[in-house]
Formats: sequence, structure tokens, C-alpha cells
Amino acid sequence: MGSPLSLISTTAQQKQAIPLSFGALIKSLTISSLTLILFYIWFLDKSNNYQPSNLLETIKQSFPAAATFPLSRPPTNLSHIVVGMLGSINTLKQKQAYIEAWWRPNVTRGYLFLDKAPTTEFLPWPSSSPPFRVNEDVTRLKVYPKIVNPVQVRIVRSILEIHRESDKDVRWYVMSDDDTILVVDNLVEVLAKYDHTKYHYIGTSSECIKSNIDFSFDMAYGGAGYILSYPLVAALSTKLDECIERYPYSWTSDFTLHECLTDLGVTLTQEKGLHQIDLHGDISGLLSAHPQSPFLSLHHLDAVDPIFPSMNRSESINHLMKAAKVDHSRLLQQTICYHRPINWSFSISWGYSAHIYENIFPRSTLRRPLQTFRPWKKNARPPFYMFNTRWPSNDPCEAPHVFYFDSVDQRVEGYQTVTTYSRAAPRGLLPCSSSGNHSADFITKIQLINTTQVIYRSCMESEIIA
Ligand SMILES: *[C@@H]1O[C@H](CO)[C@@H](O)[C@H](O)[C@H]1NC(C)=O
Ligand SMILES: *[C@@H]1O[C@H](CO)[C@@H](O)[C@H](O)[C@H]1NC(C)=O
Ligand SMILES: *[C@@H]1O[C@H](CO)[C@@H](O)[C@H](O)[C@H]1NC(C)=O
Ligand SMILES: *[C@@H]1O[C@H](CO)[C@@H](O)[C@H](O)[C@H]1NC(C)=O
Ligand SMILES: *[C@@H]1O[C@H](CO)[C@@H](O)[C@H](O)[C@H]1NC(C)=O
Ligand SMILES: *[C@@H]1O[C@H](CO)[C@@H](O)[C@H](O)[C@H]1NC(C)=O
Repeated sequence: MGSPLSLISTTAQQKQAIPLSFGALIKSLTISSLTLILFYIWFLDKSNNYQPSNLLETIKQSFPAAATFPLSRPPTNLSHIVVGMLGSINTLKQKQAYIEAWWRPNVTRGYLFLDKAPTTEFLPWPSSSPPFRVNEDVTRLKVYPKIVNPVQVRIVRSILEIHRESDKDVRWYVMSDDDTILVVDNLVEVLAKYDHTKYHYIGTSSECIKSNIDFSFDMAYGGAGYILSYPLVAALSTKLDECIERYPYSWTSDFTLHECLTDLGVTLTQEKGLHQIDLHGDISGLLSAHPQSPFLSLHHLDAVDPIFPSMNRSESINHLMKAAKVDHSRLLQQTICYHRPINWSFSISWGYSAHIYENIFPRSTLRRPLQTFRPWKKNARPPFYMFNTRWPSNDPCEAPHVFYFDSVDQRVEGYQTVTTYSRAAPRGLLPCSSSGNHSADFITKIQLINTTQVIYRSCMESEIIA
């Protein structure tokens, strides 16, 4: 009874986690759905240290800033954040659904900046959308004749314009695009680690090496969203127009901002939960192996396939947000476990996907995203990405059975959360022979249960790959 990861049939053995023998497993072939009971594993530690005695210590170490941050200041909450979204009237129709997927009317603060006033088809302006502002006309700037890309100057000047709104008690300005999803509760958690009274420029690079070479490895990409502390925006607002005069040849707003902040002596702090998604095609490989860091944003939703293959794009995003509502901090966090008796590996990206491999793979392998996507630029040459990937394979011992997030159910008794993942499609391959022919074809659903009291645990001996 060493293994905490057990397969039980839903009908026969409720609550009792008894590992099935191979014979018993064959018997349950008639049962269409198996329940996978998995104790809730949540490693805050990034160094893969699974010693139970060190867990508390590592948890403390994971939040050093929180511990040292002056306690006299009230902690950062959602009302300290003002979001500026950049959009345009021409594309508003298809993007509005993305904004409304995460925007909370009368709770989140911010503005949607537009190039022109909304036409009658958008009026009356819905209360489910952030209030809009029309950007100032850049043709009036003295430097205008030299500016190579006026649209981008309009966009970068939204930083001045959002500051001029003079909102009270702002600690952070978050700037993003109209096709960006933000997980605002996670932003609050992450920003609480930083001292908002200091200068901070927080963002992420592009996933594509080529983009970062073309601009800068130290530049925050605006689609992923970047975050500026209030005093930095206050300082910047007196300097930005000078910067625009200095860099009229800058091709993008993100680069102008980066140049300007560099001149102010401020460098980028990278946050791994922000996602520019300079990618095309199926990004499930990336979302199924998210870094161990709160999931903050997702961009370029129209450039990639719907993230859930059975849904359209806006439905997909709303579906992901259902999981975010239940437990935002666990969203897309990867859990890897093994079922030794039949040589299976499980990789779960909470609220998104579950993969079963008919083989035992080390965590170091399963942490690498499957390269299901393509780079941003068609004619790019490898190496493409800023991270390591694995090639998808048709080898039965390497190809996972893929399940996507279906539903999440909170059971009040026992404080359980039951997350269900359903099979996307039959795998269409023979079983993996070298690990014993234990097919997972008959599994149609996976249920993930966080059971009472066991929140942290180390891997059991049988789960550690020596
Ligand atoms: C956020 O913190 C401020 C103190 O800075 C407090 O006044 C406010 O009530 C808090 N808001 C929420 C929603 O907790
Ligand atoms: C937001 O608040 C305003 C008044 O303060 C109210 O009229 C409006 O219905 C509210 N919107 C939502 C979606 O709750
Ligand atoms: C996506 O699906 C939803 C629900 O089926 C539907 O209401 C919506 O119009 C669809 N959106 C697009 C862009 O097709
Ligand atoms: C698990 O796989 C190993 C080879 O990697 C094999 O020797 C062993 O028999 C398999 N176990 C079962 C129960 O099939
Ligand atoms: C798996 O099945 C194949 C074909 O049925 C067989 O050749 C192979 O020996 C089996 N492998 C194991 C480990 O039982
Ligand atoms: C299970 O998850 C829910 C939602 O994330 C959480 O509220 C609850 O405390 C968890 N229960 C345990 C025992 O971890």
C-alpha cells in the first residue's frame, strides 16, 4: 500500500485507494471511466527537492519578499492595480469577448485605449467591458514628421494617458493588448512580492529567439502584458515624449519603452507566468508543461488554434476561466506522478490537460513542452525557442493519451475539488510493448481529487526516478 497514486473503479471501491493489479485492471475494461485519485501535490520549490523535511523550509524560501516586505503597509490587492488595454476600433468586435472573459465590472480598474471613438454599433458601451478612452492625436507632436510608426507612438503614449487619469491608490499599472487574457488574482499574488514604492519594469521576452534578437532580450513584450510600478510611471510620464523624440525610428511601442527605461536606468524583471505566444498552431504542448510559476497572461489568441480542440476560441477561454475561478493559483500548474505497477506516467496541467504515457518518463522529460506549435515567423531557422522542447512522436511508448479539462466541481463536504478531464480522441496506436503492453485506450475520463488534509507530500519511494 505504498503507492498513494491508485486507480479505482468509480462504482466498486469509493474512497478506498487500493492499487489494482494488472488482472484487476483487465477486469475493469468494462468500466468506461476510471477514477484517478491523486493526492494534491503542490511544490512551490523550483529546485526539485522532494525531501519532506525540507518542504516547509522551501515554502518559506519561495516567498522571501513577502516575509521581508514592510508589514505596516496593507498587502497588495486587486484595487491597487490599474490595467491599460490597447485596442483599435477595427478589431474591437472580435476582441471584446476576450477582454470580457477576465474583466470584472466594478471590481477590476482600467481602461481600453482606442484609436477612434466607438461607432454607433458599439453604443451604448456595455457595462461588461472596461471604460474606453480615445488616445491622443500624435500628429500634433513636434517630432511627428520623423516618426516611422505613428500607431506605435499612439500606443506607448497610453502610459502617459493612463497616468493622467489620476486614479487613487494605484501601486501598479498593467499594460496589455485587447487579445490578451489576464489572470488578475495571480497578478495580485505575484506583484505582492515586489515593493511598489520602487521602480519596477516587469514582463517577459518572446518565446521566439528571432524576435528577441530583432528587438532585445531585455524588452518586455506588450502582448504578454508588462507591469510598471506607480513611481516608475510617474517618472516616465515626464520623460516619455523626450524619448519619442530621441527614438522616432523605433518600430514598436515595446522597444521605445525599453529604450526609454534603459535610459532611466531601469532593467527588465522577467516573470515566467506572462505569455506573449509568438507562436502558431496548437499550443497545448506549452500549456501542458507550464513553468512552476503562477499563470498570469495569454496573448495572440487569434494567432493560435483554440486551446481546447472541441471549442471555438472565445468558448475555450471562457472554459479555462471556469478553472481559474475555482483555484487561480493552481491553474496550469503541472503535476507529474507515476503508477509503477503498470508502468504509466501521468502529467497533469491543472484546469487544462491530463496526459497518460504508457511508460515511465523522468520528470526532466515531462517538464519539457511537446513541440506541438510553430514559430511566429514562417521562414525562421532553428533554434526557434527560448526553452527546450520535445518532439511529438507516434511511438506508442512516447505518445501520450491526451485528455482536456472538462469540469470542476467543488464538494462542500470534505472540502474536495474534483477536476475532470475527458479524452480528446482515441490515440490510435498499439500499446507500448517494452513496458508491458498496458494499454490506456479504455480510459475516457480522469478525475483529480484533492482529498482532505493532505496538501503537501513528498514523492513516495516508488515514484522517484533514480
Ligand atoms: C485593498 O487594500 C486597501 C488598502 O490599501 C483597502 O482599503 C481596500 O479595502 C482593499 N480592497 C480589497 C478589495 O480588499
Ligand atoms: C457597476 O456599477 C454601476 C453603478 O455604480 C451599475 O450601474 C452597474 O450595473 C454595475 N455593473 C455591473 C456589471 O455590476
Ligand atoms: C463560439 O461558440 C459560442 C457557443 O457555441 C457561440 O455563441 C459563439 O458565437 C462562437 N463564436 C464564434 C466566433 O464562432
Ligand atoms: C515495466 O517496464 C519494464 C521495462 O521498462 C519491464 O521490465 C517490466 O516488466 C514492466 N512492468 C510491468 C508490470 O509490465
Ligand atoms: C506485447 O505484445 C506484443 C504483441 O502482442 C508482443 O509481441 C510482445 O512480446 C508483448 N510484450 C510484452 C512485454 O508482453
Ligand atoms: C481543495 O481545493 C479547494 C479549491 O482549490 C480548496 O478550497 C480546498 O481547501 C482544497 N482542500 C484541501 C484539503 O486541500
